[in-house]
Amino acid sequence: MTMNTSIRPPATGTAASRRKIALYTLLLACLVATPVVAQQIPGPTAALVPENIAPHPAPEQPLPFSHQTHTAVMPVCQACHVNPDPGIQMTFPDTAICMTCHSVIARDRPAIETLHAYAASGQPIPWVRVYAIANGVTWSHRVHLDVGTECETCHGDIRQAESVAETRAVRAMATCISCHEAHAAPADCVSCHAWPTDQDLGFD
Ligand code: HEC
Ligand code: HEC
Ligand code: HEC
Ligand code: HEC
Ligand code: HEC
Repeated sequence: MTMNTSIRPPATGTAASRRKIALYTLLLACLVATPVVAQQIPGPTAALVPENIAPHPAPEQPLPFSHQTHTAVMPVCQACHVNPDPGIQMTFPDTAICMTCHSVIARDRPAIETLHAYAASGQPIPWVRVYAIANGVTWSHRVHLDVGTECETCHGDIRQAESVAETRAVRAMATCISCHEAHAAPADCVSCHAWPTDQDLGFD
């Protein structure tokens, strides 16, 4: 029987073009969506930076400074941690910032006496570093803050911390690379290391 094959029912052609249109719409949606995906960093609850499995006790600090107490009265992190050019560091607060409150607040406490002694000495308070990245790694806070990454994504729930401990595995190379890959950020060796270059390793 020739009738079966010679004429296709018109409905089939329509369905095929609908499928084509659907496919092109999907492709277009992907193209439009890609730059958005590369820019957006989910909030602090997203497990982009895993918890440290091994305990990392908080180091003993020169003063019993509590983020829990202080972020309750000073909620903006950048009020204390400023990010000067070239944007690598967040820096520790100038003692003058502490004195705006502690010239009066808790003036009778021994720790605040010590704070006044630091202020009078003109020397910065010798805070012990908690998160310290390995030598030779290219790092900048600025590039990460510019794409909307929140402090808590990398440092955990600092607002609840009596003392800062290294609760997050943010210094690990695997953490850097997996977040970069998830957000279409550069993940070739030279993005984070001056040496070895991809060429040194024969990748180019
Ligand atoms: C993408 C992850 C990431 C984000 C987001 C991030 N940090 Fe950091 N932070 C790090 C790493 C890694 C180090 C260690 C860097 C080093 O040793 O220079 C660090 C170190 C620090 C330090 C000590 C060294 C310095 O830079 O002065 C402070 C203070 C700090 N961060 C505060 C903050 C604050 C406040 C925010 C939010 C405004 C923030 N960080 C956002 C990863 C991050
Ligand atoms: C916005 C005001 C404010 C600023 C700025 C501030 N503090 Fe405080 N600080 C407080 C308050 C409020 C308390 C709780 C006092 C209490 O327990 O009654 C406190 C408590 C403390 C204590 C505990 C005192 C004790 O022994 O009970 C220390 C230590 C301290 N602050 C250090 C600092 C340092 C260091 C800085 C600067 C980096 C600073 N503070 C900046 C308001 C401030
Ligand atoms: C009142 C000033 C003040 C405010 C506000 C403040 N910090 Fe801090 N921060 C400090 C001081 C002082 C230290 C050093 C002592 C310590 O480690 O607890 C510090 C240390 C840190 C460190 C450890 C850095 C390292 O590697 O040694 C991180 C991370 C940090 N702060 C993040 C934050 C975040 C995130 C916020 C906002 C949620 C915030 N801080 C708000 C004063 C402040
Ligand atoms: C929470 C996700 C996240 C984590 C964790 C993270 N990064 Fe990034 N990083 C990004 C994103 C997104 C960009 C791209 C920013 C842009 O497109 O401007 C970026 C950009 C950079 C750049 C600039 C690259 C270039 O050539 O423009 C460097 C360098 C960098 N990150 C180093 C690191 C290092 C080192 C670590 C680990 C200690 C780290 N990052 C951890 C998300 C992350
Ligand atoms: C997104 C940032 C990032 C990229 C991309 C990256 N690294 Fe790393 N790398 C790091 C960080 C951070 C450390 C430090 C890890 C630590 O302290 O445990 C590190 C450590 C290393 C070390 C150990 C060095 C030492 O002194 O302990 C080697 C080797 C290394 N990386 C090689 C590479 C190679 C090869 C590539 C490319 C395939 C690469 N890295 C890509 C961030 C990165």
